[in-house]
Amino acid sequence: MTVYLNGEFMPIEQAKIPVLDRGFIFGDGVYEVIPSYSKRPFRLAEHLARLQSSLDAIRLANPHDDATWSALVAKIIAGNPWEDQNVYLQVTRGVAKRDHAFPKGIKPTVFMMASELVTPSPELMRTGAKAIVLPDFRWLRCDIKSTSLLGNCLLRTLAADEGCTEAILVRDGELTEASASNVFIVKNGTVLAPPKSHLILPGITYDVVLEILRGNAIPHEVRPVMESELRAADEIWVTSSSREVLPITTLDGKPVGSGRPGAIGERVYALYQQFKQRVMRAPAHA
Ligand SMILES: Cc1ncc(COP(=O)(O)O)c(C=O)c1O
Repeated sequence: MTVYLNGEFMPIEQAKIPVLDRGFIFGDGVYEVIPSYSKRPFRLAEHLARLQSSLDAIRLANPHDDATWSALVAKIIAGNPWEDQNVYLQVTRGVAKRDHAFPKGIKPTVFMMASELVTPSPELMRTGAKAIVLPDFRWLRCDIKSTSLLGNCLLRTLAADEGCTEAILVRDGELTEASASNVFIVKNGTVLAPPKSHLILPGITYDVVLEILRGNAIPHEVRPVMESELRAADEIWVTSSSREVLPITTLDGKPVGSGRPGAIGERVYALYQQFKQRVMRAPAHA
């Protein structure tokens, strides 16, 4: 695997960072995961815009302009073997004497790698996945795509302990998101999605799904979703770049709706596949 570290491409075994990197000591950094299909990045401009928001939120200057990031992403994709890849990029504040307050004038650490992009299997799409509901005990800036993911990791592990794919999170009686995805529900033919706020990551897939709902006149509302509505939903989907639009058919051990993937979710999944194909066939960066 070829990775990128601070200006150089190299085999992953050769990539080393100093132990005082604030990414290692404090989780002081942000990241992006950009899917690429047939070796072309998907929604790159949107991912780079979200990276900029995350960097702004933690007062870290962007080490590259968008053209440089695009070139680096293209090189990482070209340097790795898979047709479809997840491009991971991370910017940490850099190396400094351990002290909580952000130091000034240090050079950020930039790391990028790729992995094979594996989307849910046809079998999983047919059966749907299991999830549990857990209290969202993360911090109040979940809109920042921070590398400090201990809360998300612990929640995902609690889900895995129960044989579940995802932990769906509620805070003060309202649905927020899941440990590594956004959540949509369907009730009586209307799709409901929690609005963007400091409490959820603004998912790129979330935006694509909303575009699809709007573009196909599928009834939907973006508004707070109560935990009681989540538990009484006809359909639940989790969305992310790698999960795409994955139906949750068992919640806390009980069937969601009929216990099988619902018709609206199946339609949105099919439209999502078409959307991907269309974007990938377009001539320029999309
Ligand atoms: C907490 C969280 N919410 C939502 C998402 C979905 O974001 P995207 O659609 O950009 O992959 C992710 C992606 O990893 C995530 O970690």
